[in-house]
Formats: sequence, C-alpha cells, structure tokens
Amino acid sequence: MLAVLPLRLGVNIDHVATVRNARGGDLPDPVRAALLAIEAGADGITAHLREDRRHIRDDDIVRLMAAIAKPLNFELAATAEMIAIATKTRPHAACLVPEKRTERTTEGGLDVVANKNQIRDATAQLKDAGIRVSLFIAADPAQIDAAAEVRAPVIEIHTGGWCEARTQGHRQDADAEWRRIVEGVDRAKALGLEIHAGHGLDYATAEQIAALAPIAELNIGHFLVGEAIFTGLADSIARMRAAMERGRMKAKAS
Ligand code: PXP
Repeated sequence: MLAVLPLRLGVNIDHVATVRNARGGDLPDPVRAALLAIEAGADGITAHLREDRRHIRDDDIVRLMAAIAKPLNFELAATAEMIAIATKTRPHAACLVPEKRTERTTEGGLDVVANKNQIRDATAQLKDAGIRVSLFIAADPAQIDAAAEVRAPVIEIHTGGWCEARTQGHRQDADAEWRRIVEGVDRAKALGLEIHAGHGLDYATAEQIAALAPIAELNIGHFLVGEAIFTGLADSIARMRAAMERGRMKAKAS
C-alpha cells in the first residue's frame, strides 16, 4: 500500500484584494478573508505580491504576517525587490512564480531550465532566511529535474492547462495534460521533492488530483472566492475540503 500524505489546503486570497482594489478603498479586507478561511479549515494562506500590486499590497503582507496563526505562502517573482521583501518578512514559505505584467494570471510555469542561475540564487537566498522554497513549474520532466538541480525542496505543479482543457471539454488535451501531471508527480517523488499543485482547481479537479498520493498541498484561490459570492467563503472552503477528502480516500484505497 502507498504512503498517503495528509493533504493541506492553502487558500489564495488575492482575488479578495482584487475586489477591494476595484473601488480603491479598504473593503473587502483580504486579512479578514484569511482569518475566515483558517477558521473554515484552511491549513495556510497564499498571497501573491505582484510587481504592479494589482491585488495584494505590501501592507497586506505585513498585516497577514501579524494576524494569521497558520503558515503564509508568499508568491513572488525572482526579482531583487521581491526577494528583499520576502527575506525581510520571513513568511513560512515562498513560491517563486514567473510574472508578466500583461498576463491576467500566472499563465505558465517558471522556466527553471533557462534561468537556472537566477533561480538557484533566489532559492539559496530564501532558504538562508529560513523560508521553505517552492518553484511553480509545469509538469515537464526537464523543469522538474532542473528544480532538483537548483536545490529547491518543493515544486508546485501548474494545473492551469489541465483544468482549462477539462472545463472547456477538450477531452484529448485534458487527458494528455493529466498524464503529464501523473508522470511529473512520479518523477518529482523519485527525486525526493515535496509536491504541491495549483491553478484553476475547482471541486472536481481538486478531487481528482487529491487521489495522487504524493501530493502534499493544493493552493486554490479564484474558484473559492468566486463560489463565496453564492454560498459564502466558509461554505466553499468546507466543500473544497470535502472534495479533497474524497480524492484522498481513493488514494488510500489504491
Ligand atoms: N498557485 C500559484 C503558484 C498561483 O500563482 C496561483 C494563482 O495566483 C494559484 C496557485 C491559485 O490559482 P487559482 O486562483 O486559479 O486557484
């Protein structure tokens, strides 16, 4: 029988800040959302401080660090400015992501292969500050090998392409993406990496990916905040936890 890890849920609160910033005031407060998410069963909070500060702002990171009792996973680009903020703030975890100003969300994974030296340096600086580092990458064998080479202890597999193909009914693409994820998880496990996954997950895709036993954490934001409009944040998180639990039961049974 496979060793099945407990599966953590990191709730990404960026889009609470997106709604706040649409009016330029203080409401809705992403820190309040983080506290509610923790009360509802989140194991941690994820927030992405983008270069253009389009959602999370610097003071949100400071307030989150002061207010939440669960780990903060700070998403950042590997720039000198962001590394300086992270090493000063010392969150529990940092996830290096690629960033383009023109993208609506983090579209692709980090290209570790092409930027090995920059990512190795950024990883070392964050690790030296006592921060657990993950690299947000596609489930591509070369990227997974490169993540291990630059000594990142954790990877987060970008599930966006798979989720999009699935919701748009592109069955063959979705199946191909899924196979890539399954093979990527096996490869990362063999290299001794801790494996997380995220982007575009909803109840159905979270349940499916939760059945992959080596995955330790899912980071989910947009869908949970969207569902919260209809049923409330505590409810969307509780339903997500239930979906993850159903998936994990399948992992335990296999
Ligand atoms: N993980 C990473 C690294 C991300 O950049 C994002 C999006 O900010 C997520 C997870 C969450 O994606 P979503 O908001 O689509 O659930």
